[in-house]
Amino acid sequence: MLPRTNLQRTRAREQVQRMLARGRGVHIIAPLSSAGDKHNEFDFEFLGNVTGEPYLVQTNLYIDGVGNREQRIDLWFDPTADFHTYAVLWNPSQVVFMVDDTPIRVYENATLHQGHGHGHHRHGGAAAEANGTNTTTTTLAAAPAPFPGPQPMAVYSSIWNADDWATQGGRVKTDWSHAPFEATFREVRVDGCAWAGNATDGDAAEARRCSESSWGKEGRYWWKEKEMSELSVHQSHQLVWARAHHLVYDYCVDTDRFPVQPPECAGR
Ligand SMILES: *[C@@H]1O[C@H](CO)[C@@H](O)[C@H](O)[C@H]1NC(C)=O
Repeated sequence: MLPRTNLQRTRAREQVQRMLARGRGVHIIAPLSSAGDKHNEFDFEFLGNVTGEPYLVQTNLYIDGVGNREQRIDLWFDPTADFHTYAVLWNPSQVVFMVDDTPIRVYENATLHQGHGHGHHRHGGAAAEANGTNTTTTTLAAAPAPFPGPQPMAVYSSIWNADDWATQGGRVKTDWSHAPFEATFREVRVDGCAWAGNATDGDAAEARRCSESSWGKEGRYWWKEKEMSELSVHQSHQLVWARAHHLVYDYCVDTDRFPVQPPECAGR
């Protein structure tokens, strides 16, 4: 894990070019994360495999300390063969995970996207109940889908042994004869509103300054431009392609784990 640096950011975009060393059973994680028990975290995790079998990329979001939002894709290339770009865009309206500029996952701010005809928007929940002669109508407001609020974030990277679950569900064990395991990063780029170096994580003035800052005011927050608030038509097509051909697991449709569908998944 990298030490926390003055790369603390809120509303940021992290872009990392990464190459994985070969080796089974190894789990590489490069989250953008804040600190504390209400922390936010956006994860790219590479789940290793037997040599020659595909890596899976698992993404996850922690919001206010709660995760359990795993999705997994297989990649359309061998991530150990060359560098590729893995990026997270986070602004007030969406969190987008990208692989070589192809969006593979979008987590929208439901309150901003409600009523947009963009195929991702959610339906408000309402339930009516009829009961004999005494008819009562109960309207249940849908549980609000949470969205990561402004907190300072830092970029971390680590490698660990996850052969109890990650590699083909734990069937494949780490082959330690391949150690040491390596992940190589190139051109790590972070754009964001820099948290003042001497400010604490909970500094309300810094949170306000960074979340209120917008393009125009400081003239450099490109990720808050209107066009960044949702995918372009081309990106929407790329997302549909990636999910149709490469999605292998989505917590949103895992009814064994979630008998009640998480609010952000409603309407899918
Ligand atoms: C590993 O390879 C198997 C067989 O090709 C595949 O089913 C699986 O999704 C791959 N990835 C992981 C992380 O198990």
